[in-house]
Amino acid sequence: MPVPLFDTNTPLAPLRGEILRRITEVVEGSRFILGPEVAAFEQELAAYCGAKHAIGVANGTDAITIALRAMGVGPGDEVVVPSFTFYASAEAIGPTGATPVFCDIDPDTFCVTAETVKAALTPRTKAVIAVHLFGNIAPIAEIEALGVPVLEDAAQAAGSRSPDGRPGALGTVATFSFFPSKNLGCFGDGGAITTNDEQIAERAKMLRFHGSADKTTFEQIGFNSRLDEIQAAILRVQLPHLDGWADGRRAAGAHYEAAGLGELVSLPRPVAGCEPAWHLYVIRSGQVDQIADALRAAGHGQKAYYRTPIHRQPAMAAYPPAVPLPGTEDAAATHLAVPISPVLSAEQAGEVTDAVRTALHAPTRL
Ligand SMILES: Cc1ncc(COP(=O)(O)O)c(C=O)c1O
Repeated sequence: MPVPLFDTNTPLAPLRGEILRRITEVVEGSRFILGPEVAAFEQELAAYCGAKHAIGVANGTDAITIALRAMGVGPGDEVVVPSFTFYASAEAIGPTGATPVFCDIDPDTFCVTAETVKAALTPRTKAVIAVHLFGNIAPIAEIEALGVPVLEDAAQAAGSRSPDGRPGALGTVATFSFFPSKNLGCFGDGGAITTNDEQIAERAKMLRFHGSADKTTFEQIGFNSRLDEIQAAILRVQLPHLDGWADGRRAAGAHYEAAGLGELVSLPRPVAGCEPAWHLYVIRSGQVDQIADALRAAGHGQKAYYRTPIHRQPAMAAYPPAVPLPGTEDAAATHLAVPISPVLSAEQAGEVTDAVRTALHAPTRL
């Protein structure tokens, strides 16, 4: 049976009735912008992450821009960001007026390290964006120990755990995306910022509403970027299920290991001590095109997400990296996402692994 790249419908099916009921309540209440649902979700998300504040915004890209602005990032500043991530991680720096400075990753974990960040620091560095890519968790404490504030881009890491806590409360500020396919996804666009810093929280709240605290006096050029009440209501139904879904994602990774996928290709390695809720399960191989062809032929989902890293995208031509990015180039050339979801079964993991085995002409496992 073909295995899809991800399955968002099956985990949501038991919640559909409740979600529809909550949507109806919002519609009947006629309160659509910054009402009780957003306020309640902000409290619940902050509590879940272990952060003091959460601020709902329109999407994960705005969340990064607004969080950077709230940290005081502006023209003349540099922001260090990995080149191997979704384009938005770097794109979001642009509207602050600061310059993106690309750093490398560890291709085994797909995350930045204190060493790769350190190599890109300059006296103008104002912040670092550490992306918890694919659900892995970048070593935030080690990076902040370099003396520079970190924004965790946790768009892909809701539900992951580290010995220091959850994404969202590990650095100075963190951002989330609730794009529908994310570990915690709404029914449209949505995002959030979390922080323990009172001032950053206040500034972010203002910036999401046109730079105004009271809707009368406009203190800054801000944004119109709010999480909708309907989306917040949908997210509130789902949040209590996030940990269970995260366990399912970890179990899916374990199914691939048990099926022997690691004997054929490099599996993603959790950052030391972390328990990633794999948002994407991304393997690496020198024969990745062959593997992609075989999965396609068998009807299984597969995708190379970031074959062209950000520093080689046309829009970033003005920002050539000042340091070599060998880990980025390696990951870009060799990665491939294979199916993952909270409900991926051992049997499905076995079928995908068999297709990889066939692609590589590897002997059948006894
Ligand atoms: C790592 C990362 N950062 C930022 C974003 C941007 O989030 P959004 O699509 O909600 O703007 C995404 C997701 O799309 C992402 O995967």
